[in-house]
Amino acid sequence: MLAETIETVPPRPFLKWAGGKSKLLQQYKPHFPKTFKNYYEPFLGGGAVFFYFARQPLQLSARLTDINQELINVYRCIQSAPDTVIVLLANHQKEHRSEYYYKVRENLEGTDCEKAARIIYLNKTCFNGLYRENSKGEFNVPIGRYKNPQIFNPGLIRSVSTALQKVQIDVKPFEDVLHYATSSDDFVYFDPPYHPLSYTSNFTSYSRYSFNEEDQIRLRHVFAELAGRGVNVMLSNSDCSFIRELYKDFKIHKILAARTINSNIKKRGIISEVLITSY
Ligand SMILES: C[S@@+](CC[C@H](N)C(=O)[O-])C[C@H]1O[C@@H](n2cnc3c(N)ncnc32)[C@H](O)[C@@H]1O
Repeated sequence: MLAETIETVPPRPFLKWAGGKSKLLQQYKPHFPKTFKNYYEPFLGGGAVFFYFARQPLQLSARLTDINQELINVYRCIQSAPDTVIVLLANHQKEHRSEYYYKVRENLEGTDCEKAARIIYLNKTCFNGLYRENSKGEFNVPIGRYKNPQIFNPGLIRSVSTALQKVQIDVKPFEDVLHYATSSDDFVYFDPPYHPLSYTSNFTSYSRYSFNEEDQIRLRHVFAELAGRGVNVMLSNSDCSFIRELYKDFKIHKILAARTINSNIKKRGIISEVLITSY
């Protein structure tokens, strides 16, 4: 039976996601378009920019998509059945230990809400909180070394569910946004897997789908097509000559970011990224 008094908290990302933008919002804010009515995020991940707008006193319609089916199922279950997800997570919290972790990791069966709770549980207890699939689409990250991991916050699940009401959530490749964004009332934020700075730093495989140079070029064409329609388009990517050359016709802003997800501690530190706008 759920406690009636669940403390509500402002909506924010409830998953730790490689490339998450929560820490960069302060630098991004001055570059957001001043006015728009419809928001599109075709590379959703942890959704940091969407949740930033969900915390503002704005009337927005939003469409959130990603190619990762498991991820989108989590958003949909929180949107439609937050209390079911909360009860399932409370049980994972109670049962958490190493054997239990690997049993849950190997178990791909269950209802949509059970699969959603499984992904949140694994995300909060796996090594580095990193969502990674192998080429067969299996989640294969070992358990993390957290003493008492807080697997979930019921107040956050509830406020995220409220923020997702009336939001369209779908499994789609990024080009899908071309069917929806058509004018200056629209703001599209692209946060693709970044172009690798070196052959060792190429973490682009969030899922069984990789994201290579051809994909970056296809994305640039979609960016230019939307910009040509007067849509407000913003894109994040790595700061390198390939990306700067690809987007040289648009506004390129330098952003400073901390690199924390690298198994080689020497490779952690501050690096520059780019934020590209069509306006
Ligand atoms: C850098 S992450 C987005 C991080 C997000 N902005 C955040 O704040 O957490 C990139 C996302 O793109 C998704 N993705 C990869 N290839 C894609 C494609 N072709 N179409 C749509 N989504 C894709 C991945 O599943 C991943 O969730």
